[in-house]
Amino acid sequence: MTLFEKMRCLFTFGQGVALSLPELSADTTPAQLFEQWFNDAKQSGILLPEAMSVSSCNADGQPSSRMVLLKDYDEKGFVFFTNYASRKSHELDENNKVALLFHWNVLQRQVRIEGIVEKVSIQESADYFHSRDRGSQVGAWASKQSQKLKHDDELKERMSHYQEKFSQGQVPHPEFWGGWRIKPHAIEFWQGRSNRLHDRICFEKQNEQWTQHKLHP
Ligand SMILES: Cc1cc2nc3c(=O)[nH]c(=O)nc-3n(C[C@H](O)[C@H](O)[C@H](O)COP(=O)(O)O)c2cc1C
Repeated sequence: MTLFEKMRCLFTFGQGVALSLPELSADTTPAQLFEQWFNDAKQSGILLPEAMSVSSCNADGQPSSRMVLLKDYDEKGFVFFTNYASRKSHELDENNKVALLFHWNVLQRQVRIEGIVEKVSIQESADYFHSRDRGSQVGAWASKQSQKLKHDDELKERMSHYQEKFSQGQVPHPEFWGGWRIKPHAIEFWQGRSNRLHDRICFEKQNEQWTQHKLHP
């Protein structure tokens, strides 16, 4: 983090940030604003600015949340990768409504996203899988994500098994592992301000068009 960024951090806490929300034109898309804020977060020195919470709901309506890493985003949506047999994936299969949350604390910014999920293409998943380090690729085979361990050494044993199995050549992309794309229909940008008079800008998608409005904090 640069000296300027550290000073901005100190100023930011409890005071409201020096930066206000940018002026938005009527045709600004949330993807454009997200791009600006994500770049600010990357430059701020925050560890893992791409970390986001994903909330899913099971068939009974019980919500659950966990952190994942954003790996891609554009006008089509926000992508993360995981095990398709994990708890989250089962819930997303049952109920495709999802919420994402980013919190960039030193910038006093939060972004809330609501939308529906779909699986990314097998090719997209395979390409990303093969871009990961070899240990993570083998680890994806070894982990039965979200399932109970039969005994304490099970994971270690499974890792050794797959390390041996895939000791030569490319680690194949497992069909149970891939990406989910969240296609947003509502995005709120929250900017902390002094006296708790925070800025909130909401984008809502109706008939494929984004509309904007502001909310009381
Ligand atoms: C910062 C952070 C990033 C994470 N990124 C991922 C990720 O990209 N994909 C993933 O499957 N799990 C990731 N995890 C682990 C998940 O939070 C979670 O423990 C795991 O996916 C199992 O969740 P589930 O049982 O609800 O499916 C991450 C955890 C943390 C703390």
